[in-house]
Amino acid sequence: MQEGLKTRATTRCDVLIIGAGGAGMRCAAEILERMPGAKVIALTKVSHPQKSHTSTAQGGLAAVDPRDPNDATIFHMFDTWKGSDCTADQNVVKKICESAWEEILWLENRGMHFSRDPQGHLSKRTFGGHTRNFGEASAFRAVFEADRTGKGIMDTAWGESLKRNILFINQSVAVELLIKDRQCSGCIVFEQKQGAFLRILTRATVFASGGSGQVFKVTTNCRQNTGDGLALIMEAGLPVMDPEAVQFHPTGIVGPGILASETLRSVGGILRNRDQEPFMERYAPKMKELAPRDLVARAIESEIRAGRGILNPDHNTAHVWIDLRHLPAEVHEQEIPEVSGFFKRYVNLDPQKELCPVRPSNHYHMGGIPTNEFGEVEDAQHRAIEGLYAVGECAAASFHGFNRLGTNSILELITVGKVVGDRVIERLKREPGALPEVKGERFREKFEGYFAANGRDNVGLIRNALRSVMTEKVSVFRTEAGISEAIETLRELKARAERTGLSRKTLVMDQELVQRWELDNLLALATAICAAALHRKESRGAHFRDDFPERKDEFNYHTLVTMPEFGKIELGRREVDMSVFHAGGAHHEKFGIIERKY
Ligand code: FUM
Repeated sequence: MQEGLKTRATTRCDVLIIGAGGAGMRCAAEILERMPGAKVIALTKVSHPQKSHTSTAQGGLAAVDPRDPNDATIFHMFDTWKGSDCTADQNVVKKICESAWEEILWLENRGMHFSRDPQGHLSKRTFGGHTRNFGEASAFRAVFEADRTGKGIMDTAWGESLKRNILFINQSVAVELLIKDRQCSGCIVFEQKQGAFLRILTRATVFASGGSGQVFKVTTNCRQNTGDGLALIMEAGLPVMDPEAVQFHPTGIVGPGILASETLRSVGGILRNRDQEPFMERYAPKMKELAPRDLVARAIESEIRAGRGILNPDHNTAHVWIDLRHLPAEVHEQEIPEVSGFFKRYVNLDPQKELCPVRPSNHYHMGGIPTNEFGEVEDAQHRAIEGLYAVGECAAASFHGFNRLGTNSILELITVGKVVGDRVIERLKREPGALPEVKGERFREKFEGYFAANGRDNVGLIRNALRSVMTEKVSVFRTEAGISEAIETLRELKARAERTGLSRKTLVMDQELVQRWELDNLLALATAICAAALHRKESRGAHFRDDFPERKDEFNYHTLVTMPEFGKIELGRREVDMSVFHAGGAHHEKFGIIERKY
Protein backbone atom coordinates (compact mmCIF):
# COMPACT_ATOMS: atom_id res chain seq x y z
CA MET A 1 0.00 0.00 0.00
CA GLN A 2 1.18 3.53 -0.80
CA GLU A 3 2.66 5.13 2.32
CA GLY A 4 0.13 7.57 3.81
CA LEU A 5 -3.04 6.00 2.44
CA LYS A 6 -4.69 5.89 5.81
CA THR A 7 -6.27 8.57 7.94
CA ARG A 8 -3.60 10.39 9.94
CA ALA A 9 -6.03 11.50 12.64
CA THR A 10 -9.65 11.89 13.63
CA THR A 11 -10.97 15.26 14.67
CA ARG A 12 -14.40 16.39 15.84
CA CYS A 13 -16.34 19.56 15.30
CA ASP A 14 -19.92 20.78 15.62
CA VAL A 15 -20.30 21.68 11.95
CA LEU A 16 -18.28 20.81 8.87
CA ILE A 17 -18.85 22.94 5.80
CA ILE A 18 -17.48 21.57 2.55
CA GLY A 19 -16.75 24.70 0.52
CA ALA A 20 -16.06 28.25 1.70
CA GLY A 21 -17.82 30.36 -0.95
CA GLY A 22 -20.85 32.59 -0.42
CA ALA A 23 -23.28 29.80 0.54
CA GLY A 24 -20.92 28.14 3.00
CA MET A 25 -19.90 31.44 4.57
CA ARG A 26 -23.47 32.71 4.95
CA CYS A 27 -24.38 29.46 6.66
CA ALA A 28 -21.31 29.61 8.91
CA ALA A 29 -21.95 33.26 9.81
CA GLU A 30 -25.51 32.43 10.92
CA ILE A 31 -24.37 29.56 13.10
CA LEU A 32 -21.50 31.50 14.65
CA GLU A 33 -23.58 34.64 15.30
CA ARG A 34 -26.16 32.65 17.20
CA MET A 35 -23.95 29.96 18.74
CA PRO A 36 -20.68 31.79 19.40
CA GLY A 37 -18.93 28.80 20.95
CA ALA A 38 -19.65 26.37 18.11
CA LYS A 39 -16.67 24.74 16.46
CA VAL A 40 -17.21 25.24 12.74
CA ILE A 41 -14.69 23.94 10.21
CA ALA A 42 -14.85 25.00 6.56
CA LEU A 43 -12.88 23.16 3.91
CA THR A 44 -11.89 24.99 0.80
CA LYS A 45 -10.38 23.47 -2.29
CA VAL A 46 -8.65 26.73 -3.17
CA SER A 47 -5.72 28.41 -1.45
CA HIS A 48 -7.90 31.01 0.27
CA PRO A 49 -11.69 31.28 0.77
CA GLN A 50 -11.67 34.60 -1.08
CA LYS A 51 -10.67 32.74 -4.22
CA SER A 52 -14.00 30.91 -4.20
CA HIS A 53 -16.07 31.23 -7.34
CA THR A 54 -18.71 33.44 -5.62
CA SER A 55 -16.14 36.25 -5.75
CA THR A 56 -16.50 36.39 -9.53
CA ALA A 57 -20.28 36.99 -9.55
CA GLN A 58 -20.94 40.24 -11.33
CA GLY A 59 -24.47 41.54 -11.92
CA GLY A 60 -26.42 41.54 -8.67
CA LEU A 61 -28.98 39.76 -6.55
CA ALA A 62 -32.72 39.97 -6.99
CA ALA A 63 -34.86 41.03 -4.02
CA VAL A 64 -38.14 42.87 -3.93
CA ASP A 65 -37.83 46.03 -1.85
CA PRO A 66 -40.98 46.14 0.30
CA ARG A 67 -41.09 49.94 -0.15
CA ASP A 68 -41.07 49.73 -3.94
CA PRO A 69 -44.58 50.69 -5.14
CA ASN A 70 -43.91 49.13 -8.57
CA ASP A 71 -42.84 45.69 -7.45
CA ALA A 72 -44.20 42.80 -5.38
CA THR A 73 -42.90 39.47 -4.12
CA ILE A 74 -45.60 37.62 -6.05
CA PHE A 75 -44.15 39.05 -9.31
CA HIS A 76 -40.70 37.75 -8.40
CA MET A 77 -42.20 34.35 -7.57
CA PHE A 78 -44.07 34.28 -10.87
CA ASP A 79 -40.96 35.25 -12.89
CA THR A 80 -38.94 32.53 -11.19
CA TRP A 81 -41.63 29.92 -11.85
CA LYS A 82 -42.08 30.95 -15.48
CA GLY A 83 -38.32 31.25 -15.96
CA SER A 84 -37.86 27.71 -14.60
CA ASP A 85 -40.19 26.41 -17.32
CA CYS A 86 -42.60 25.21 -14.61
CA THR A 87 -40.08 23.00 -12.84
CA ALA A 88 -39.03 25.05 -9.80
CA ASP A 89 -40.46 23.92 -6.46
CA GLN A 90 -43.02 26.50 -5.41
CA ASN A 91 -42.53 26.05 -1.66
CA VAL A 92 -38.87 26.93 -2.17
CA VAL A 93 -39.63 29.81 -4.55
CA LYS A 94 -42.01 31.32 -2.00
CA LYS A 95 -39.63 30.93 0.90
CA ILE A 96 -36.66 32.47 -0.93
CA CYS A 97 -38.53 35.35 -2.55
CA GLU A 98 -40.25 36.24 0.72
CA SER A 99 -37.01 36.35 2.70
CA ALA A 100 -34.93 38.09 0.02
CA TRP A 101 -35.03 41.66 1.31
CA GLU A 102 -34.19 40.59 4.86
CA GLU A 103 -30.97 39.16 3.50
CA ILE A 104 -30.13 42.37 1.64
CA LEU A 105 -30.44 44.14 4.99
CA TRP A 106 -28.24 41.50 6.61
CA LEU A 107 -25.51 42.21 4.07
CA GLU A 108 -26.02 45.99 4.19
CA ASN A 109 -25.89 46.05 7.98
CA ARG A 110 -22.67 44.11 7.96
CA GLY A 111 -20.91 46.52 5.68
CA MET A 112 -21.49 45.45 2.07
CA HIS A 113 -20.98 48.44 -0.27
CA PHE A 114 -24.13 48.27 -2.39
CA SER A 115 -24.19 50.81 -5.22
CA ARG A 116 -26.51 53.73 -4.55
CA ASP A 117 -28.41 56.21 -6.67
CA PRO A 118 -27.91 60.00 -6.41
CA GLN A 119 -30.61 60.14 -3.70
CA GLY A 120 -28.68 57.65 -1.61
CA HIS A 121 -31.10 54.73 -2.08
CA LEU A 122 -29.89 51.29 -3.10
CA SER A 123 -29.56 51.25 -6.89
CA LYS A 124 -31.48 48.59 -8.77
CA ARG A 125 -31.13 47.15 -12.23
CA THR A 126 -33.21 44.79 -14.29
CA PHE A 127 -32.18 41.34 -15.49
CA GLY A 128 -33.55 38.86 -18.01
CA GLY A 129 -37.01 37.50 -17.21
CA HIS A 130 -37.59 39.77 -14.18
CA THR A 131 -40.86 41.62 -14.71
CA ARG A 132 -43.55 43.48 -12.85
CA ASN A 133 -47.25 42.74 -13.13
CA PHE A 134 -46.76 39.19 -14.41
CA GLY A 135 -44.77 40.04 -17.51
CA GLU A 136 -46.04 43.52 -18.27
CA ALA A 137 -42.66 45.31 -18.21
CA SER A 138 -39.12 44.85 -16.87
CA ALA A 139 -38.76 44.98 -13.10
CA PHE A 140 -35.80 46.78 -11.53
CA ARG A 141 -35.18 44.52 -8.56
CA ALA A 142 -31.52 43.50 -8.58
CA VAL A 143 -29.33 45.30 -6.06
CA PHE A 144 -25.62 45.23 -6.80
CA GLU A 145 -22.15 46.43 -6.06
CA ALA A 146 -21.12 47.82 -9.48
CA ASP A 147 -20.33 44.66 -11.51
CA ARG A 148 -18.47 42.88 -8.72
CA THR A 149 -21.37 41.94 -6.44
CA GLY A 150 -20.00 38.51 -5.57
CA LYS A 151 -16.83 40.03 -4.18
CA GLY A 152 -18.93 42.23 -1.90
CA ILE A 153 -20.84 39.20 -0.63
CA MET A 154 -17.66 37.25 -0.03
CA ASP A 155 -16.00 40.11 1.83
CA THR A 156 -19.03 40.39 4.08
CA ALA A 157 -19.89 36.75 4.78
CA TRP A 158 -16.25 35.66 5.01
CA GLY A 159 -15.45 38.58 7.33
CA GLU A 160 -18.39 37.70 9.59
CA SER A 161 -17.29 34.07 9.84
CA LEU A 162 -13.65 34.94 10.33
CA LYS A 163 -14.24 37.31 13.20
CA ARG A 164 -16.23 34.62 14.99
CA ASN A 165 -13.42 32.10 14.83
CA ILE A 166 -14.30 29.77 12.02
CA LEU A 167 -11.52 27.33 11.26
CA PHE A 168 -10.51 27.07 7.59
CA ILE A 169 -8.68 24.11 6.12
CA ASN A 170 -7.41 25.43 2.81
CA GLN A 171 -6.49 23.38 -0.25
CA SER A 172 -8.39 20.38 0.99
CA VAL A 173 -11.18 18.25 -0.45
CA ALA A 174 -13.73 15.83 0.97
CA VAL A 175 -13.06 12.43 -0.59
CA GLU A 176 -15.57 10.20 1.18
CA LEU A 177 -18.82 10.82 2.99
CA LEU A 178 -19.41 8.82 6.16
CA ILE A 179 -23.01 7.65 6.03
CA LYS A 180 -24.79 4.75 7.66
CA ASP A 181 -28.48 4.07 8.27
CA ARG A 182 -29.43 7.40 6.69
CA GLN A 183 -27.25 9.32 9.11
CA CYS A 184 -24.17 11.28 8.17
CA SER A 185 -21.31 11.48 10.64
CA GLY A 186 -18.80 13.54 8.64
CA CYS A 187 -16.27 12.73 5.99
CA ILE A 188 -12.72 11.88 5.05
CA VAL A 189 -10.74 14.90 3.95
CA PHE A 190 -7.63 14.99 1.81
CA GLU A 191 -5.28 17.82 2.78
CA GLN A 192 -3.21 18.55 -0.27
CA LYS A 193 -0.42 20.47 1.43
CA GLN A 194 0.27 17.73 3.94
CA GLY A 195 -0.59 14.93 1.53
CA ALA A 196 -2.65 13.39 4.33
CA PHE A 197 -6.14 12.09 5.00
CA LEU A 198 -8.10 13.33 7.99
CA ARG A 199 -11.34 11.92 9.37
CA ILE A 200 -13.69 14.67 10.53
CA LEU A 201 -16.62 13.59 12.68
CA THR A 202 -19.51 15.98 13.15
CA ARG A 203 -23.24 16.17 13.73
CA ALA A 204 -23.75 18.49 10.77
CA THR A 205 -22.07 18.21 7.37
CA VAL A 206 -22.99 20.95 4.91
CA PHE A 207 -22.17 20.65 1.23
CA ALA A 208 -21.49 24.08 -0.25
CA SER A 209 -19.01 22.88 -2.82
CA GLY A 210 -20.17 24.97 -5.78
CA GLY A 211 -20.64 24.20 -9.43
CA SER A 212 -19.43 21.87 -12.11
CA GLY A 213 -18.62 24.10 -15.10
CA GLN A 214 -15.43 22.22 -15.90
CA VAL A 215 -17.55 19.48 -17.47
CA PHE A 216 -17.62 21.83 -20.48
CA LYS A 217 -14.78 23.24 -22.52
CA VAL A 218 -15.91 26.86 -22.53
CA THR A 219 -17.20 28.01 -19.16
CA THR A 220 -17.45 31.08 -16.98
CA ASN A 221 -16.57 28.85 -14.01
CA CYS A 222 -13.26 28.75 -12.20
CA ARG A 223 -10.79 25.92 -12.61
CA GLN A 224 -11.85 24.21 -9.37
CA ASN A 225 -15.53 23.74 -10.26
CA THR A 226 -15.37 20.06 -11.09
CA GLY A 227 -18.63 18.87 -9.54
CA ASP A 228 -16.85 17.09 -6.69
CA GLY A 229 -19.80 17.33 -4.30
CA LEU A 230 -22.21 15.69 -6.73
CA ALA A 231 -19.76 12.91 -7.51
CA LEU A 232 -19.27 12.22 -3.81
CA ILE A 233 -23.01 12.11 -3.24
CA MET A 234 -23.44 9.58 -6.04
CA GLU A 235 -20.62 7.46 -4.69
CA ALA A 236 -22.46 7.36 -1.36
CA GLY A 237 -25.45 5.83 -3.17
CA LEU A 238 -27.51 9.03 -3.06
CA PRO A 239 -29.15 10.63 -6.10
CA VAL A 240 -28.45 13.87 -7.94
CA MET A 241 -31.45 15.78 -9.25
CA ASP A 242 -32.01 17.29 -12.71
CA PRO A 243 -28.37 16.95 -13.81
CA GLU A 244 -29.49 17.60 -17.40
CA ALA A 245 -30.49 21.17 -16.42
CA VAL A 246 -27.29 23.04 -17.32
CA GLN A 247 -27.24 26.77 -17.98
CA PHE A 248 -25.28 28.42 -20.77
CA HIS A 249 -24.84 32.14 -20.23
CA PRO A 250 -25.54 33.93 -23.50
CA THR A 251 -22.55 36.22 -23.33
CA GLY A 252 -19.22 34.62 -22.59
CA ILE A 253 -16.26 36.52 -24.02
CA VAL A 254 -15.27 34.67 -27.17
CA GLY A 255 -12.35 32.33 -26.59
CA PRO A 256 -11.90 32.10 -22.84
CA GLY A 257 -15.67 32.20 -22.20
CA ILE A 258 -15.21 34.62 -19.30
CA LEU A 259 -18.50 36.07 -18.11
CA ALA A 260 -19.61 39.29 -19.78
CA SER A 261 -22.40 40.10 -17.33
CA GLU A 262 -26.06 40.28 -18.30
CA THR A 263 -25.69 43.77 -16.83
CA LEU A 264 -24.42 44.74 -20.27
CA ARG A 265 -27.86 44.03 -21.71
CA SER A 266 -29.56 45.45 -18.62
CA VAL A 267 -27.90 48.84 -19.21
CA GLY A 268 -28.87 48.76 -22.91
CA GLY A 269 -26.32 46.59 -24.73
CA ILE A 270 -27.64 45.20 -28.03
CA LEU A 271 -26.85 41.81 -29.55
CA ARG A 272 -26.03 41.98 -33.28
CA ASN A 273 -25.21 39.35 -35.88
CA ARG A 274 -22.78 39.42 -38.82
CA ASP A 275 -25.01 41.90 -40.66
CA GLN A 276 -25.22 43.98 -37.49
CA GLU A 277 -28.92 43.19 -37.28
CA PRO A 278 -30.32 43.42 -33.68
CA PHE A 279 -31.69 39.89 -33.98
CA MET A 280 -33.30 39.35 -30.54
CA GLU A 281 -36.51 40.92 -31.76
CA ARG A 282 -37.10 37.83 -33.90
CA TYR A 283 -36.79 35.47 -30.92
CA ALA A 284 -38.37 37.42 -28.03
CA PRO A 285 -40.39 40.28 -29.52
CA LYS A 286 -41.29 41.78 -26.17
CA MET A 287 -38.31 41.20 -23.86
CA LYS A 288 -35.63 41.06 -26.61
CA GLU A 289 -32.15 41.14 -24.97
CA LEU A 290 -33.82 40.80 -21.57
CA ALA A 291 -35.49 37.46 -22.23
CA PRO A 292 -34.31 34.62 -19.94
CA ARG A 293 -30.92 33.11 -20.58
CA ASP A 294 -31.95 29.80 -22.14
CA LEU A 295 -33.85 31.66 -24.81
CA VAL A 296 -31.11 34.22 -25.53
CA ALA A 297 -28.41 31.52 -25.63
CA ARG A 298 -30.47 29.52 -28.15
CA ALA A 299 -31.07 32.67 -30.21
CA ILE A 300 -27.32 33.33 -30.45
CA GLU A 301 -26.54 29.70 -31.30
CA SER A 302 -29.32 29.75 -33.91
CA GLU A 303 -27.82 32.83 -35.55
CA ILE A 304 -24.45 31.13 -35.64
CA ARG A 305 -25.94 27.88 -37.01
CA ALA A 306 -27.70 29.88 -39.76
CA GLY A 307 -24.35 31.33 -40.84
CA ARG A 308 -24.98 34.77 -39.38
CA GLY A 309 -22.13 34.55 -36.89
CA ILE A 310 -18.66 36.02 -37.24
CA LEU A 311 -15.53 33.85 -37.14
CA ASN A 312 -12.97 34.98 -34.59
CA PRO A 313 -9.56 34.31 -36.16
CA ASP A 314 -7.66 33.97 -32.86
CA HIS A 315 -9.94 31.28 -31.45
CA ASN A 316 -11.37 29.93 -34.68
CA THR A 317 -14.77 30.28 -33.04
CA ALA A 318 -17.97 31.81 -34.35
CA HIS A 319 -19.66 34.51 -32.28
CA VAL A 320 -22.08 37.43 -32.37
CA TRP A 321 -21.48 40.99 -31.20
CA ILE A 322 -22.63 42.89 -28.17
CA ASP A 323 -22.84 46.57 -29.00
CA LEU A 324 -22.12 48.91 -26.09
CA ARG A 325 -20.86 51.86 -28.12
CA HIS A 326 -24.00 53.93 -27.68
CA LEU A 327 -23.92 53.80 -23.86
CA PRO A 328 -22.87 56.99 -22.07
CA ALA A 329 -19.29 57.08 -20.77
CA GLU A 330 -20.51 57.19 -17.14
CA VAL A 331 -22.36 53.88 -17.62
CA HIS A 332 -19.14 52.28 -18.85
CA GLU A 333 -17.18 53.80 -16.02
CA GLN A 334 -19.57 53.38 -13.11
CA GLU A 335 -21.83 50.44 -13.89
CA ILE A 336 -19.72 48.06 -15.94
CA PRO A 337 -16.09 48.94 -15.18
CA GLU A 338 -14.98 45.34 -14.58
CA VAL A 339 -16.53 43.87 -17.71
CA SER A 340 -15.32 46.74 -19.87
CA GLY A 341 -11.87 46.01 -18.48
CA PHE A 342 -12.20 42.31 -19.38
CA PHE A 343 -12.81 43.17 -23.05
CA LYS A 344 -9.79 45.44 -23.05
CA ARG A 345 -7.60 42.86 -21.32
CA TYR A 346 -8.67 39.64 -23.03
CA VAL A 347 -9.59 40.69 -26.55
CA ASN A 348 -7.87 44.06 -26.80
CA LEU A 349 -11.06 45.93 -27.64
CA ASP A 350 -12.46 49.16 -26.29
CA PRO A 351 -16.23 48.61 -25.71
CA GLN A 352 -16.84 52.36 -25.87
CA LYS A 353 -15.66 52.36 -29.49
CA GLU A 354 -15.81 48.81 -30.80
CA LEU A 355 -18.23 45.89 -31.07
CA CYS A 356 -17.41 43.11 -28.61
CA PRO A 357 -17.45 39.38 -29.52
CA VAL A 358 -19.57 37.06 -27.35
CA ARG A 359 -21.12 33.61 -27.50
CA PRO A 360 -22.78 31.24 -25.01
CA SER A 361 -20.55 29.86 -22.29
CA ASN A 362 -21.40 27.24 -19.70
CA HIS A 363 -22.35 29.10 -16.54
CA TYR A 364 -24.46 27.32 -13.94
CA HIS A 365 -25.85 23.96 -12.92
CA MET A 366 -29.53 24.14 -11.99
CA GLY A 367 -29.36 20.45 -11.12
CA GLY A 368 -27.59 19.25 -8.00
CA ILE A 369 -27.90 17.44 -4.70
CA PRO A 370 -31.64 17.11 -3.97
CA THR A 371 -32.72 18.83 -0.78
CA ASN A 372 -36.00 19.74 0.84
CA GLU A 373 -36.86 23.41 1.53
CA PHE A 374 -34.62 23.38 4.62
CA GLY A 375 -31.54 22.30 2.70
CA GLU A 376 -31.64 18.75 4.10
CA VAL A 377 -30.28 16.23 1.62
CA GLU A 378 -32.77 13.62 0.43
CA ASP A 379 -32.32 10.08 -0.80
CA ALA A 380 -34.09 8.59 -3.83
CA GLN A 381 -37.16 7.86 -1.69
CA HIS A 382 -37.30 11.54 -0.60
CA ARG A 383 -36.22 10.78 2.96
CA ALA A 384 -33.89 13.27 4.60
CA ILE A 385 -30.41 12.08 5.52
CA GLU A 386 -29.86 13.09 9.11
CA GLY A 387 -26.99 15.52 9.61
CA LEU A 388 -26.42 16.17 5.88
CA TYR A 389 -27.26 19.46 4.18
CA ALA A 390 -26.54 21.12 0.83
CA VAL A 391 -26.71 24.74 -0.23
CA GLY A 392 -25.65 26.93 -3.14
CA GLU A 393 -24.92 25.78 -6.66
CA CYS A 394 -24.16 22.18 -5.68
CA ALA A 395 -27.71 21.86 -4.31
CA ALA A 396 -31.10 21.59 -5.98
CA ALA A 397 -33.95 22.56 -3.68
CA SER A 398 -35.19 23.47 -6.45
CA PHE A 399 -35.41 27.25 -6.78
CA HIS A 400 -34.43 27.36 -10.47
CA GLY A 401 -36.04 24.33 -12.07
CA PHE A 402 -34.73 24.01 -15.63
CA ASN A 403 -33.66 27.60 -16.15
CA ARG A 404 -32.30 30.04 -13.62
CA LEU A 405 -32.98 33.75 -13.89
CA GLY A 406 -29.94 36.01 -13.64
CA THR A 407 -29.34 37.30 -10.07
CA ASN A 408 -31.36 34.47 -8.51
CA SER A 409 -28.28 32.38 -7.71
CA ILE A 410 -26.55 34.66 -5.26
CA LEU A 411 -29.93 35.40 -3.79
CA GLU A 412 -30.39 31.67 -3.26
CA LEU A 413 -27.02 31.17 -1.65
CA ILE A 414 -27.51 33.84 0.99
CA THR A 415 -31.16 33.06 1.78
CA VAL A 416 -30.75 29.30 1.90
CA GLY A 417 -27.34 29.70 3.57
CA LYS A 418 -29.23 31.26 6.46
CA VAL A 419 -32.00 28.63 6.37
CA VAL A 420 -29.45 25.82 6.57
CA GLY A 421 -27.69 27.69 9.39
CA ASP A 422 -31.01 27.79 11.29
CA ARG A 423 -31.63 24.12 10.66
CA VAL A 424 -28.17 23.12 11.82
CA ILE A 425 -28.60 25.18 15.02
CA GLU A 426 -31.86 23.33 15.74
CA ARG A 427 -30.05 20.03 15.35
CA LEU A 428 -27.14 21.08 17.54
CA LYS A 429 -29.55 22.17 20.28
CA ARG A 430 -31.20 18.78 20.36
CA GLU A 431 -29.86 16.10 22.68
CA PRO A 432 -27.01 14.44 20.75
CA GLY A 433 -27.48 10.79 19.83
CA ALA A 434 -24.45 8.60 19.15
CA LEU A 435 -22.94 9.14 15.70
CA PRO A 436 -22.91 5.99 13.57
CA GLU A 437 -19.53 4.26 13.40
CA VAL A 438 -18.22 4.51 9.84
CA LYS A 439 -14.51 4.18 9.22
CA GLY A 440 -14.29 5.26 5.62
CA GLU A 441 -12.68 2.82 3.23
CA ARG A 442 -13.69 3.74 -0.31
CA PHE A 443 -11.17 6.56 -0.61
CA ARG A 444 -8.29 4.20 0.08
CA GLU A 445 -9.26 1.77 -2.65
CA LYS A 446 -9.65 4.65 -5.05
CA PHE A 447 -6.30 6.27 -4.33
CA GLU A 448 -4.57 2.88 -4.34
CA GLY A 449 -5.94 2.43 -7.86
CA TYR A 450 -4.46 5.78 -8.91
CA PHE A 451 -1.02 4.80 -7.64
CA ALA A 452 -1.14 1.25 -9.02
CA ALA A 453 -1.97 2.26 -12.60
CA ASN A 454 1.02 2.56 -14.90
CA GLY A 455 -0.37 3.26 -18.39
CA ARG A 456 1.26 6.06 -20.39
CA ASP A 457 -1.77 8.21 -21.06
CA ASN A 458 -2.33 11.73 -19.81
CA VAL A 459 -4.95 12.95 -17.34
CA GLY A 460 -5.09 16.41 -18.98
CA LEU A 461 -5.74 14.96 -22.44
CA ILE A 462 -8.56 12.77 -21.15
CA ARG A 463 -10.10 15.73 -19.33
CA ASN A 464 -9.93 17.82 -22.50
CA ALA A 465 -11.56 15.04 -24.53
CA LEU A 466 -14.39 14.86 -21.99
CA ARG A 467 -14.93 18.62 -22.07
CA SER A 468 -14.90 18.66 -25.87
CA VAL A 469 -17.45 15.89 -26.30
CA MET A 470 -19.79 17.45 -23.72
CA THR A 471 -19.50 20.83 -25.42
CA GLU A 472 -20.06 19.45 -28.90
CA LYS A 473 -22.84 16.98 -28.09
CA VAL A 474 -24.58 17.95 -24.84
CA SER A 475 -24.68 21.72 -24.61
CA VAL A 476 -27.24 24.28 -25.88
CA PHE A 477 -28.76 21.95 -28.49
CA ARG A 478 -28.96 18.20 -27.92
CA THR A 479 -30.07 15.14 -29.90
CA GLU A 480 -30.41 11.44 -29.12
CA ALA A 481 -27.54 10.57 -31.45
CA GLY A 482 -25.25 13.24 -29.97
CA ILE A 483 -25.95 12.29 -26.36
CA SER A 484 -25.47 8.58 -27.11
CA GLU A 485 -22.15 9.35 -28.77
CA ALA A 486 -21.10 11.30 -25.69
CA ILE A 487 -22.04 8.38 -23.40
CA GLU A 488 -19.92 6.00 -25.47
CA THR A 489 -16.98 8.41 -25.43
CA LEU A 490 -17.26 8.85 -21.66
CA ARG A 491 -17.12 5.07 -21.22
CA GLU A 492 -13.93 4.92 -23.26
CA LEU A 493 -12.45 7.85 -21.38
CA LYS A 494 -13.21 6.15 -18.06
CA ALA A 495 -11.34 3.04 -19.21
CA ARG A 496 -8.41 5.19 -20.34
CA ALA A 497 -8.42 7.07 -17.03
CA GLU A 498 -8.25 3.83 -15.06
CA ARG A 499 -5.13 2.74 -16.91
CA THR A 500 -3.38 6.08 -16.64
CA GLY A 501 -0.36 6.15 -14.35
CA LEU A 502 0.77 9.19 -12.38
CA SER A 503 4.21 10.62 -13.08
CA ARG A 504 5.08 11.22 -9.43
CA LYS A 505 3.90 8.69 -6.90
CA THR A 506 3.42 11.14 -4.08
CA LEU A 507 0.53 12.48 -2.06
CA VAL A 508 2.07 15.84 -1.15
CA MET A 509 1.01 18.84 -3.25
CA ASP A 510 0.65 16.77 -6.37
CA GLN A 511 -1.63 18.57 -8.82
CA GLU A 512 -1.68 15.58 -11.14
CA LEU A 513 -3.07 13.40 -8.35
CA VAL A 514 -5.81 15.91 -7.57
CA GLN A 515 -6.60 16.21 -11.26
CA ARG A 516 -6.83 12.44 -11.51
CA TRP A 517 -9.40 12.49 -8.71
CA GLU A 518 -11.26 15.39 -10.34
CA LEU A 519 -11.30 13.47 -13.61
CA ASP A 520 -13.29 10.67 -11.94
CA ASN A 521 -15.72 13.28 -10.62
CA LEU A 522 -16.11 14.92 -14.02
CA LEU A 523 -16.62 11.56 -15.71
CA ALA A 524 -19.28 10.55 -13.19
CA LEU A 525 -21.16 13.81 -13.42
CA ALA A 526 -20.96 14.02 -17.22
CA THR A 527 -22.38 10.49 -17.38
CA ALA A 528 -25.27 11.46 -15.09
CA ILE A 529 -25.96 14.56 -17.20
CA CYS A 530 -26.05 12.45 -20.37
CA ALA A 531 -28.26 9.73 -18.88
CA ALA A 532 -30.84 12.29 -17.75
CA ALA A 533 -30.63 14.29 -20.99
CA LEU A 534 -31.17 11.13 -23.03
CA HIS A 535 -34.14 10.10 -20.97
CA ARG A 536 -35.87 13.50 -21.09
CA LYS A 537 -37.38 13.34 -24.56
CA GLU A 538 -38.71 16.87 -24.52
CA SER A 539 -37.38 20.44 -24.34
CA ARG A 540 -37.63 22.36 -21.09
CA GLY A 541 -35.70 25.44 -20.03
CA ALA A 542 -32.03 25.02 -20.77
CA HIS A 543 -32.47 21.37 -21.82
CA PHE A 544 -33.29 21.63 -25.51
CA ARG A 545 -33.66 18.54 -27.68
CA ASP A 546 -33.58 19.27 -31.42
CA ASP A 547 -35.41 15.97 -31.88
CA PHE A 548 -38.11 16.83 -29.29
CA PRO A 549 -38.43 20.63 -29.43
CA GLU A 550 -41.64 20.92 -27.35
CA ARG A 551 -42.20 20.77 -23.60
CA LYS A 552 -44.34 17.76 -22.65
CA ASP A 553 -46.57 17.41 -19.61
CA GLU A 554 -45.56 13.80 -19.14
CA PHE A 555 -42.13 15.12 -18.08
CA ASN A 556 -43.44 17.50 -15.42
CA TYR A 557 -41.12 16.10 -12.76
CA HIS A 558 -37.55 16.30 -11.49
CA THR A 559 -35.16 13.62 -12.67
CA LEU A 560 -33.25 11.66 -10.03
CA VAL A 561 -30.07 9.87 -11.11
CA THR A 562 -28.42 7.36 -8.79
CA MET A 563 -25.04 5.92 -9.82
CA PRO A 564 -23.14 4.25 -6.97
CA GLU A 565 -20.77 2.71 -9.53
CA PHE A 566 -19.64 4.29 -12.78
CA GLY A 567 -22.23 3.64 -15.50
CA LYS A 568 -24.69 1.77 -13.23
CA ILE A 569 -27.53 4.19 -13.51
CA GLU A 570 -30.94 4.15 -11.91
CA LEU A 571 -33.43 6.82 -12.85
CA GLY A 572 -36.12 8.07 -10.50
CA ARG A 573 -38.44 11.03 -10.13
CA ARG A 574 -39.40 13.72 -7.69
CA GLU A 575 -42.65 15.56 -8.00
CA VAL A 576 -42.50 19.30 -8.67
CA ASP A 577 -43.96 21.17 -5.69
CA MET A 578 -46.91 23.26 -6.88
CA SER A 579 -48.18 24.28 -3.46
CA VAL A 580 -48.73 27.94 -4.42
CA PHE A 581 -50.95 26.84 -7.28
CA HIS A 582 -52.79 24.28 -5.17
CA ALA A 583 -53.30 26.72 -2.26
CA GLY A 584 -55.65 28.60 -4.57
CA GLY A 585 -54.82 32.07 -3.22
CA ALA A 586 -54.72 35.32 -5.18
CA HIS A 587 -53.03 34.88 -8.58
CA HIS A 588 -52.67 31.13 -8.04
CA GLU A 589 -53.58 30.55 -11.72
CA LYS A 590 -50.25 32.14 -12.68
CA PHE A 591 -48.52 29.19 -11.03
CA GLY A 592 -50.08 26.45 -13.10
CA ILE A 593 -48.38 24.82 -16.07
CA ILE A 594 -48.22 28.03 -18.08
CA GLU A 595 -47.11 28.98 -21.54
CA ARG A 596 -43.65 30.49 -21.71
CA LYS A 597 -43.45 33.41 -24.12
CA TYR A 598 -41.37 36.57 -23.79
O1 FUM B 1 -24.63 38.02 -15.89
C1 FUM B 1 -24.35 38.06 -14.71
O2 FUM B 1 -23.93 39.06 -14.12
C2 FUM B 1 -24.54 36.83 -13.94
C3 FUM B 1 -25.42 36.81 -12.98
C4 FUM B 1 -25.95 35.54 -12.54
O3 FUM B 1 -25.50 34.50 -13.02
O4 FUM B 1 -26.88 35.53 -11.74
